[in-house]
Amino acid sequence: MIKINMNNYNILIESNVFASLRDFLDEINKRVFIVTDTNVDNLYGKELANILDGFEIIKYVIPSGETSKNFKTYEAIMHHFLSKGIKRFDTLIAFGGGVVGDLAGFVAATLFRGIDYIQIPTTLLSQVDSSIGGKTGIDTPYGKNLIGAFYEPKVVLIDPNFLKSLDDIEYANGLSEMIKAGLIMDKDLFDQLEKSQTVNDELIAQAIEVKRKVVLLDPFDYKERMLLNFGHTFGHAIEFKHQYETYKHGQAIAYGMLMSIKIGERLNLTNTNIYDRVYNLFLKLKLIELPLLNPKDYLDYLKFDKKHLSNGLNFVLIDEIGSAFTKTLELKDLI
Ligand SMILES: NC(=O)c1ccc[n+]([C@@H]2O[C@H](COP(=O)([O-])OP(=O)(O)OC[C@H]3O[C@@H](n4cnc5c(N)ncnc54)[C@H](O)[C@@H]3O)[C@@H](O)[C@H]2O)c1
Repeated sequence: MIKINMNNYNILIESNVFASLRDFLDEINKRVFIVTDTNVDNLYGKELANILDGFEIIKYVIPSGETSKNFKTYEAIMHHFLSKGIKRFDTLIAFGGGVVGDLAGFVAATLFRGIDYIQIPTTLLSQVDSSIGGKTGIDTPYGKNLIGAFYEPKVVLIDPNFLKSLDDIEYANGLSEMIKAGLIMDKDLFDQLEKSQTVNDELIAQAIEVKRKVVLLDPFDYKERMLLNFGHTFGHAIEFKHQYETYKHGQAIAYGMLMSIKIGERLNLTNTNIYDRVYNLFLKLKLIELPLLNPKDYLDYLKFDKKHLSNGLNFVLIDEIGSAFTKTLELKDLI
């Protein structure tokens, strides 16, 4: 088992992580509230119920996918749990990918002004990224993740065995964030992912370590945490322009990372031996395809950027693999 300490909670990475789950539950009260989605429930719901033998289980299963991360589902979960008599000292389990984690985490943050919750992330992206760092929230018609709270779980339980049922696209989606972690802060992680794209407990831990370092420095996202946005300025614009349908998040940020590397090269800030390595890796993982997207087509969609661009845009660049920094750029620097 690998144990990572986040100051106020631990992240445990192990096969058969369900075995550890009961250590974090109230064996006297013997009641647990679960939020999961349809896919995860079909795949692993029975297994979880078996582990919780003897517990009263109150479960809310959301339809899988980003469209569930909204007010309506949030309200439905709240009402369901309240109707079942949830109390302030009950524990909630978020069992699924980032959508379940963000949504259930926000329910936990706001129900009775905060109840305990446990993250059991089941996608690669949620294991290396969304379950770490305490950001919870829901989407609105005005944009993604606009309503939320910083709220830390009691524990994060990661089992790489869940990844066996992920399809290639979802797997690559998580790898994209891992590659980003390597590019901004851990050359060895990038080198390893370049050699082999199959992850194991150690690689997951290595990617989490990048997020851990940044989050502990800047838990509320004012400064250092911005580095995690490498590739995300254009990535978000790509997702927004295509209404979150054409490109998965991992694909959009892969294009975004390449655009950032090119911008850095043009400004003589990024070593010119990086682009081809990253490009080839993304192509192999089908995170990008040819012809590449053109940054010019996304300038109008840079988030809230009309305003930002009048006095410059805070942009994340890398100089070398494993070393990122922020720089204020102007519109003319981007194309
Ligand atoms: N809180 C944060 O810091 C943070 C960071 C990054 C992303 N996010 C959020 O995370 C969300 C994306 O997360 P995601 O990529 O995990 O998406 P997701 O939760 O929608 O999961 C992707 C798909 O995989 C399925 N799935 C989950 N586990 C599976 C398994 N083990 N086997 C087979 N299928 C499985 C899901 O049902 C879904 O269809 C977005 O809403 C994003 O905003 C949050």
